[in-house]
Amino acid sequence: MLNPDRSFISLKNLSVNTLNSFFDTVKSLKLKNFRSERKGSVALMFFESSTRTRLSFELATQRTGMQALLFDGGPKTSLEKGETVEDSILNAAAMCPQAMVIRCSDQMDLAKISKQVFEVFQVPVLNAGWGRQGHPTQALLDYFTLLESFGSLRGLKLLIVGDAKHSRVIASHLEVAEVLGVQLGYCGPEVFAPVGFTGPRFLDLPSAIAWADSVYTLRFQFERHDGGLNFSEADYISKFQVNERVLTEYSSHKNVKLLHPGPINQGLEIEAGLSLSSWSLVFKQVQNGVLVRQALLTMCQEAR
Ligand code: CP
Repeated sequence: MLNPDRSFISLKNLSVNTLNSFFDTVKSLKLKNFRSERKGSVALMFFESSTRTRLSFELATQRTGMQALLFDGGPKTSLEKGETVEDSILNAAAMCPQAMVIRCSDQMDLAKISKQVFEVFQVPVLNAGWGRQGHPTQALLDYFTLLESFGSLRGLKLLIVGDAKHSRVIASHLEVAEVLGVQLGYCGPEVFAPVGFTGPRFLDLPSAIAWADSVYTLRFQFERHDGGLNFSEADYISKFQVNERVLTEYSSHKNVKLLHPGPINQGLEIEAGLSLSSWSLVFKQVQNGVLVRQALLTMCQEAR
């Protein structure tokens, strides 16, 4: 099969016996290894940018003893040749990884493709951030972090400050907060208010901070502000930026905590450097993100 120098460049001059013997080798690999290989890998498919989610899923994959198959949908993939994202996913699923972790835009129907992938290949799909629809592992790691910090979530008042309307993270919080007994409040400009939100809304940050046990600050989702905003960043900073002064002056909770899902626009939605302060749980969120994703991957392994 291989050339005398062990290279493999073309199929010229191969005998039928050589070819059949090679096919037998492939067949024996299929019988021997395919099933154990199915337990061995996780496809990480990121069609939108990510730092925390991608790295933490990669680390979680390693910790569960599996190998990460990385696909970032960038240049040099067949997306460049016109293959659809859905076809890329189905082709990766055909290699039967233990699970597929997918981040994608609103343009893709992640629920639909997940159903297809499971029906055809019995591979579970984990949502790693889907457009504005949701980011369930982020919400889980947020609530786990709050649970660790406060000991209980029931009755906790969590104030959301900033661009909730364009946030997939808040879409997932809204799915689970009530079940956990967490009361959500919102403070920020009207154009950033979460759609369909019925909880307490605050127009000024001091009274909102006075209400809250914890403050969840959100990134300006610039990439989703079609047509721009009707206020300036300076306006926003003066009214809604979470900073040391407002936390010190207005918090009535001696143990108030600050969270942010990242990435942070330092100096815009929160004061630069506040993520390193004693109020901050930001890096605990990141650490817990690895554990939450590891737990999910372990569940996928055990379900096989
Ligand atoms: N919080 C979050 O999803 O961050 P990344 O976009 O960097 O993954």
